[in-house]
Parts: sequence; structure tokens; C-alpha cells
Amino acid sequence: MLNAAASRFRPFEVVSKVRESTTITSFRLVPVEPQHWRPFEAGQFLTMRVPDRKGGHVLRNYTVSSSPREEGTYRITVKREAATTQDVPEGLSSCWLHDEIEPGAVIEIDPPRGAFKLDNASSRPVVLLSGGVGMTPTVSMLNVLARESDRPVWFIHACDSAAVHALREEVEYLATLRPGIAVHFCYRFAGSGDLDAARCHSKGFLTRATLQNLLPLDDYDIYMCGPPPFMQALYSILAGLGVRKDRIAYEFFGPASLLSEAGQMAKPPSMPSPAEPAIERNGPHVVLQKSGRKLVWDGTSESILAFLEAQGIEPEFSCRAGVCGTCEQGLVSGEVDYFEEPLEAIPDDRVLLCCTRPKSSIVLDL
Ligand SMILES: Cc1cc2nc3c(=O)[nH]c(=O)nc-3n(C[C@H](O)[C@H](O)[C@H](O)COP(=O)(O)OP(=O)(O)OC[C@H]3O[C@@H](n4cnc5c(N)ncnc54)[C@H](O)[C@@H]3O)c2cc1C
Ligand code: FES
Repeated sequence: MLNAAASRFRPFEVVSKVRESTTITSFRLVPVEPQHWRPFEAGQFLTMRVPDRKGGHVLRNYTVSSSPREEGTYRITVKREAATTQDVPEGLSSCWLHDEIEPGAVIEIDPPRGAFKLDNASSRPVVLLSGGVGMTPTVSMLNVLARESDRPVWFIHACDSAAVHALREEVEYLATLRPGIAVHFCYRFAGSGDLDAARCHSKGFLTRATLQNLLPLDDYDIYMCGPPPFMQALYSILAGLGVRKDRIAYEFFGPASLLSEAGQMAKPPSMPSPAEPAIERNGPHVVLQKSGRKLVWDGTSESILAFLEAQGIEPEFSCRAGVCGTCEQGLVSGEVDYFEEPLEAIPDDRVLLCCTRPKSSIVLDL
């Protein structure tokens, strides 16, 4: 059995709580013991243990919205998921944080992780695209780009209205730190005067025409984060504008099934398109017991999950970082290497597809 990483959870004290908008609040966390702070890259998230009111706990992820250069502290920025009808209860973790957590409270968190992170090695211009609370990774990225880079940056953010718009002043301030940073806010329900007062720059939904007007023809690195309808709409606009799929990195804050249920974007756009099934050659095989398929591991895929997706197979996933367990499958035989340590112990006859590569030929219960 692979060693559990659960022991990496550490107590962090909430040292401040700042209301950023009517629905979004930030929490500043510092480790109870200073040596437990870990560096992170802009875009990565923390996993938090949240009491489930039955004496147990659930795990929830929150992206660090502060700059990676602020050593010794993390800021998370959380949207309160209110109950919408009698049948849809309020969000367990977000309402616990908003309603019950005050400065002085201690929260258990696992160090930052996640593959959605700013590529500092690239020199391409950057487009940071966010919807709603999806701005948490892009604000952290903007912090880095504004202070440490001269790459042109477009920070484009869509939300419902001025009332729910979070971190506006911080984004506007970062954009003044150097030339070459453009900011565009789009309010779905702009109030009278919002456009005139430059609280927002467009209203309704972000459209192809808006993006075309904003972005000169170029080869961009695009980072995108927001709710599923936002991601679907923007991804298809970007594809229509001819943006290469491998230039779009994205993160979404819910289970992948939300995207696939809507019939769109069931897999990350950065993944290769479904290819012809791999033919049998030498090399480790990935055998799918239920469907009887035998594939040759090509060695180029980042994970077994990415490899299966490239073959047109779409296993369920969510975090793609070894946290949520959504991609867990039966491992009938063979051995795998974990390149990311899972949060919980994984028995030898199970495998997390998102953070493993085959060590030998493997048979999956798929
Ligand atoms: C990588 C990653 C990064 C993230 N970063 C952030 C971040 O920076 N900021 C942020 O705010 N969030 C972030 N999230 C989302 C966050 O992890 C939580 O999913 C979010 O806070 C909701 O959790 P919750 O416990 O409050 O809601 P849950 O209790 O999980 O409920 C989720 C939603 O479902 C509804 N619901 C609950 N039960 C039912 C039911 N029986 N029937 C129908 N509907 C129901 C709730 O009303 C709520 O809207 C991130 C997620 C991921 C995967
Ligand atoms: S997708 Fe979350 S653990 Fe693999």
C-alpha cells in the first residue's frame, strides 16, 4: 500500500477575514508552526479538512489567491454557496468558512499542489480569463506577472455585477505597476452608470467580438478559470478564433462531470485530441479488462488519465492532482509510479489515474 500523505495536514491559523464582495470573502492563513509553510506556484491550490457536522470531515480545495512571493502566508478567497431552493442545501465548506470561521480559528490544510500554474519559462503574451470566483488563480498569476515580467498581459474578468465583483482594487493596482497590463471587466447585469463610471468595460456575456477587439492577433498563453458555462463558452470562442488548444490551460472548481454532462469539453483542451487506437507494439501495455482493449503506453502522456483521454476514453476526474479520488480505478495487475503523492493511502489493487504512469504492463478494471 502506498503511504498515506494524510499526515501532511498541518494547523494554520486564520489571521484575517476580509469581505471582498457580497458573496466572496478572503481568509489569510499562517502556519501555527512557521516551518510548515510551503512555497507554491501561482495557480496552485490548498486542500482543507472541513468538519461535516457528523463528527467526520470532508476535503475541499481552495486556490491560493495571494502572491507566491508572500512567504509564510496564504490567502484563500471563497465564494459562499448559498442554498438556492429548499432542495438544494447551502454549501458545507464555503458556508462554514463564511459563517463560522473568524480570525483566531485554526484550520487543517495540506500543502499547495496542482498542475494549473503559470509557466514562467514562456515569453509569450498572457491572457488571464476568469469568471466569478475563478479569479483566484488569475489574481495570483497577475501578482507575479506585474512584478517579475515584462510580458504583455490581458486580465479579463466576467461576473454578474459590481456587488459580487471581488479583488477589483488589487487587480487595478497591479495593472498600474508597469506598462503592458490591460484590464477588462464584463458585468452580466451592469447597473446604470457602471459603464460610464468604468466599473466595468462591457456588459452581458463576454463575446467573440469583445475578445477580438481586445486581443491583437498573436500567439498567447491563455489561463482560464470559471464556472462550467463560462468555460464552455470561452473555450469555443477561443477555438473559433484559431487559438491552439495547447495554448489554453484551465482549471475548474467542480467535478468534471459538470462539463461532460453539458456535452462539452469533457477533457482538458490541452490534452491531445482522440487519436487512432494505439496498435500493439513493444512496450508496456495498458489493458482495459472490461472493454478488452490493449493499448501501448506511448511514454509521452503525462499520466495514465491523459493517455486514456488521448485514446478517446474518458474516465471521470476532478482535481487531476491526487486529491479527490474521482479517477480511482481497479488495478487488476501490474505496477504504477506515482509522480504526485496522493492525499489518501491507495491500496495496491487500486490506482489514481491522474497522477500515475505505468511501471510495467498494467491491467485496469475499465
Ligand atoms: C482545484 C480547485 C480549486 C478551487 N478553488 C476555489 C477557490 O479559490 N474559491 C472558491 O470559492 N472555491 C474554490 N473551489 C471550489 C471549492 O473546493 C468547493 O467546491 C466550493 O467551495 C463548494 O464547496 P461547499 O462544501 O461549500 O459546497 P458543497 O456542499 O460541496 O455543495 C456544492 C454545491 O452543490 C449544492 N448542493 C449541495 N448539496 C446538494 C444536493 N443534495 N442537491 C443539489 N445541490 C446540492 C450546494 O448548494 C453548492 O452550491 C475549488 C475547487 C477545486 C477543485
Ligand atoms: S482526479 Fe482527483 S484524484 Fe485523480
